[in-house]
Amino acid sequence: MLDEVARALAACYGWLSVLFAITALIYWLGVSGFSLVSHVSLPGPKPWPYVGNLLDVAKYGGLHKAFIEYGKKYGKVYKMYMGRSPMITVADPEILKHILVRDFDKFRNRPDFMRSNPPLDIGMFSARDDTWRRIRSVLTPTFSLLKLKEIVPIIENASGLLLSKLERSAKNERSIDVSTAFGQFSLDVIMRAAFGLEAEIQTNPDPELVQKVLTVFDVPVYIRAMSMLPFYRHLTKLFDINLTQHVPYFVNLAKSMLEIRKNSSGGRRDLVQLMLEARDENAAEDGCRKLTDDEVIAQSVVFLLAGSETTGVTLALTGYLLAHHPQIQDKLLNEIDDAVRSRSGDDFNLRVCTES
Ligand code: HEM
Repeated sequence: MLDEVARALAACYGWLSVLFAITALIYWLGVSGFSLVSHVSLPGPKPWPYVGNLLDVAKYGGLHKAFIEYGKKYGKVYKMYMGRSPMITVADPEILKHILVRDFDKFRNRPDFMRSNPPLDIGMFSARDDTWRRIRSVLTPTFSLLKLKEIVPIIENASGLLLSKLERSAKNERSIDVSTAFGQFSLDVIMRAAFGLEAEIQTNPDPELVQKVLTVFDVPVYIRAMSMLPFYRHLTKLFDINLTQHVPYFVNLAKSMLEIRKNSSGGRRDLVQLMLEARDENAAEDGCRKLTDDEVIAQSVVFLLAGSETTGVTLALTGYLLAHHPQIQDKLLNEIDDAVRSRSGDDFNLRVCTES
């Protein structure tokens, strides 16, 4: 009898130990990433295993609102946790200048949960270390002061089209969906400035293209939630999950745009031209291509998407907020009028390019 009790207890202890070990492992997987910044003496909210501080996103009504609340509580530099990924949030302009400009090469490699699967894994957003540095050095001249100045007339022309659209709606007292209008405007500028293509995006848009651009970052909530899991990167590879939607569509679009440009460069020195030269092995000093064909396609998709949806949404939200705050709108208009009056046209454009 005693033997049986001892055996049952031993079995019970055995199971309890296994249960304890599994619980400890599950807990450890949920907090192991936190150790990366736990020794950093910065203030910040306390994280929960797996979710980090993401519960505050729901509590404050959005990530941006959580950032604002944290900023009030912890200052301009604090640590926090996006799920299992630790991060240091910086809102100090001087430190940001170092991170984004002076020491940008030390801040490469975006978090794992933002990485794409092929073919976008070699796009500048996902590429890592030396691949990223090489691609970035090829593409950086796209943003030289001279190149930005060349874009100003394109923006002015596209703004004219947008303005007449808004004026028509105002005249007819019709409301307008500004997300679509600003989305089309941004896409129009990026297609003309980076790819040298006139695609009548604002005047006669392809409805499929516009719909796909506007929903490119509409990531289902369950995929966002999955990014908290320990093996998320493996899962994304297994099920080909990307944080960017409609990838095959945009890859095909980029391919056909590049095809058009290969046949007619028109003497332009834009993003496409820089990339086509970098993939031409005869043009390279050491006989090696600086960009492969696949890399050219991936960068084209990144520019198309990184440049249009982001700018479109920023402009739409700015427009919405200005419409709801007419005093601020008047103040902004006066400031712009003053700035334009006090400078000659060219100097003003130059100043905008330098400061942006
Ligand atoms: C309001 C508009 C925009 C917003 C809010 C925005 C936002 C961002 C953010 C948050 C990043 C990541 C920064 C980092 O991880 O260090 C980024 C990177 C990037 N953006 Fe934008 N962006 C905007 C406009 C544009 C435009 C117009 C273009 C291209 C024409 C562009 C191209 C890129 C590229 C290529 C990267 C990757 C840079 C690299 O790896 O070095 N973005 N953007």
